[in-house]
Order: sequence, then structure tokens, then C-alpha cells
Amino acid sequence: MAANEKATLSMNGKQYELDVIVGTEGEQSVDIRNLRADSGFITLDNGYANTGACQSGITFLNGEKGILRHRGYSIEDLCENATFLETAFLLIYGELPSESQLAAFTDDITRHTLLHENMRNFFQGFPLRAHPMAILSSMVCSLSAFYQDTYNALDPDHTDLTVVRLLAKIPTIAAFAYKKSIGQPYVYPDNSLNYCENIIKMFFAVPCEEFELDSDKAKALDQLLILHADHEQNCSTSTVRLVGSSLANLYSAISAACCALWGPLHGGANQAVIEMLDQIAKDGNNVKKYVDLAKDKDSSFRLMGFGHRVYKNFDPRARIIKKTCDKILAKEGIHDPLLDIAKQLEQVALEDEYFVERKLYPNVDFYSGILYRALGIPKDMFTVMFAIGRLPGWIAQWREMVTDPATRIGRPRQIYTGPQARDFIPIAKRESLPGRTAGLDRVTPHE
Ligand code: CMC
Repeated sequence: MAANEKATLSMNGKQYELDVIVGTEGEQSVDIRNLRADSGFITLDNGYANTGACQSGITFLNGEKGILRHRGYSIEDLCENATFLETAFLLIYGELPSESQLAAFTDDITRHTLLHENMRNFFQGFPLRAHPMAILSSMVCSLSAFYQDTYNALDPDHTDLTVVRLLAKIPTIAAFAYKKSIGQPYVYPDNSLNYCENIIKMFFAVPCEEFELDSDKAKALDQLLILHADHEQNCSTSTVRLVGSSLANLYSAISAACCALWGPLHGGANQAVIEMLDQIAKDGNNVKKYVDLAKDKDSSFRLMGFGHRVYKNFDPRARIIKKTCDKILAKEGIHDPLLDIAKQLEQVALEDEYFVERKLYPNVDFYSGILYRALGIPKDMFTVMFAIGRLPGWIAQWREMVTDPATRIGRPRQIYTGPQARDFIPIAKRESLPGRTAGLDRVTPHE
């Protein structure tokens, strides 16, 4: 279809001409922006699976061919040749940084890693068993309380400073959340280390011992972060855009994205994968039983780490992680029985008609959990690590949105299916709604 071609829609005996918009990689869309005004019709698309909510120059992915590129560079190339901070710069500012730009960017981030000391009090208030994603999202939103004078979404200088603060402080928040959960003292950032070395030290150092840094582990973490850096309009990124479209500050948009990422169908899947593998191990390694359960339409069980809304082929990120995972496990001499189960599961699922027909391949979360385990990161922290990785993508998408003149506040429509207009019923004449008579079964009134 040529770029200037029109699509014709015929409804109620009338014809409507719609513009066709074609992307740089040939993706085609029908522009329905004026459809409701012209015809009274809206489009209905649960989960927005077939809806383009923006035009974006950041990430291209082709789910049929298993291609993922950021600003034109393939994920394989970036993993091989770039660092996470270079990739972050590329995503946010559009080009790979020059040597001096990268040095300045890195220096800025390094010098903003400390949290305001008052934030320590917030950590104390959380229960010991608090999920670190609850802490992360709350803390990220709390940052907006400390930097109110520099969070105007429309001021580029404010944005540049907020970008640096977020990239610098989120790893510190993550590490403090972890230390809080295990009752160890917080380890402050070390400006002599690079981004991932610093993360590893803040997680694993203790004040009573010399800390030995493993640069291979830091490199593997850097690669993991690159692999998660952006994935176009996924659930959490769309959340950033939706929240940000109201011109809410970037901290609050990123905090909302953390909440969206937490769900087991999104970033929470990496934790869910390990829990599933654990369950299979405890159940006598009965892989077939769980594959059958995933296929059973009467069961809500799904094979975690399989399937993707967009990839209908092997997730290219899963391929890269799998290789690194094998390398780190071999170097550390780790034999992880969960990896054996993962491999069996992958094999069975790749050959099973149910998975083949539906094009359900292992996704990025299938192997990332195993690699995090090998790096010593506990499973409650997996989604937090995903958030650290996804941060540059969220920021880049937010920045693109606020500077795009086509942006409008996000406000989808609906097809109403509730009752039509009716008269108010006085309370004495109402019937009880079945199942809603008893109150909650409370143990104590204020629990
Ligand atoms: N196990 C078993 N069946 C599955 C699975 C699975 N993991 N995923 C999809 N299906 C089936 C589903 O039941 C449906 O079957 P049918 O056509 O017979 O009704 C069909 O495949 C299509 O599934 P869908 O739910 O319509 O697909 P979706 O695009 O809405 O969902 C997904 C995508 C990722 C939420 C889903 O595949 C899933 O729940 N996977 C497990 C969770 C997971 O690994 N999530 C991480 C995604 S990658 C990282 C990220 O982006 O955050």
C-alpha cells in the first residue's frame, strides 16, 4: 500500500475515507482520529492489541521475525558492543553518545546516586516482609516530594536533571529495599565503581567484610539491563505515557509504571517462572503434568515465561540471556536443578502441538530468573531488576510523548453495556444483592 493511499470504510450506507500511515519499517495503520466526529463510530479493541496509540522513533520490533532494534541498532549489536548507560543515552536522546557525552552522562549519574537522608525514614516504616516492588514504586513517587522545584514536564532542563536523578537513584532505592528485607545495614553508593558494579556492591557488601567484586557478574548484569531497556508500547510503558499525558511529573509516571510492571503477566513473570520451576521440582520434576495443566482449559494455570503478545517467534532477548546464563553457570560451577527443569520444559513446549499452534515460545522472563539466581539476586528482587533495566525506555517514551505536538491526554472511549436510565429505588423497597449481605470476616476491627 502506498504511503498516500486511503482506506475506505463503509458503514450505514456511507463511505468514509481514512488516511493510511506507514512507518519506516513498512508497518501500516489506518488513521481513525476523526472517525467518531465524522461517523459517530468508535473502534473497540480490548487490551489495545490492534491499536497504535502513538508514532514512535525509539524501538522497532517484529514479533513474527523475532527482531528487536533500538533507534535502528539491533539488540544483539547493543549487547555485544554497548554498555547499559550508552544504551540508555541512545534510547533517551536518539543517538549513541560521543566519548565526551558518555563521560559527562556517566559522571552526572554517578554524582546523583545518594538518596536524601530523610528517605531512610521511609524505608524503616515498611514491614520486613514488604514486597520490594511496593517499596520501589512508593519511593520513586516520594522522590517527587523532594524535587518539586525541578519536575515541570515541559521544561527540558528540569527533565534532564530528573532523568539523571532517576537513573542514579533507582538502583540505590532497590538496594536499600533489599537490605531492609534481610535486616542488613544499607550500603551507600561507591562513586569509584561503574553502574552495575555499584549495584552489586550495594546489594551484597556488608560493613564487616572486605567486598570482592566479580566483574563477570557485573558485565552479565549490564547485559541483562540492556536486554530489558525498552520494548515499545508494552503495559508499563503505555502506563508511563498515559499517566504522563496528564503532564503529571516524570517521577509519578515512573512510579505508576513500576506498579504496572509488577503484575505476573508482565515483569512479575520472572519471579513467577522461578516459583513455577520450584513447584515442579517439589512435585517430583513432573514436567508433563504442568504442561498438561497449562493446556487444560478448565485450569487457569499458564506456563510462566511462555508466550508474548507481540513475539510469535523466539524472543531474541531469551536467546541472548540463555547463552549468558550458560556461561555464568559454567564459570561459577553452579548446577542449578531448576535450569534442568527449565530446559526440559522448553523442549516439551517447543514440540507440543498446543504451544506450536499458538506460537508460544519462551520469552525474556523464562531465563532471566535463572541468571538472576546465579548472580545471587533473590526472587522477590527480580521484578525490581527488570524495572532498573526498563527505566531508560520508560524515560525515552515519556520524553518523546511530552515533546510530540500530536500528544493529547490519554482518554479511551468505551461501549456502555450497563442498565439504561431508570428511576431511583427508595432503600425500603430494594432487594438484597445476592452474596453481598454479610460484612467482611474481620479478625480485629482495624486490621
Ligand atoms: N501457557 C499456556 N497457554 C498460553 C500461555 C501460556 N503461558 N500464553 C498464552 N496461552 C494461550 C492462551 O490460553 C490462548 O489460548 P486459546 O487461543 O486456546 O484461548 C492463546 O495462547 C493466546 O493467548 P492470549 O492470552 O490471548 O495472549 P496474550 O497476547 O493476551 O497474552 C501473555 C500474552 C504474555 C500475557 C501470555 O502469553 C501469558 O500469560 N504468558 C505467561 C506470562 C508471561 O510469561 N509473561 C511475560 C511476558 S514477556 C515480558 C514482558 O513483556 O513483561
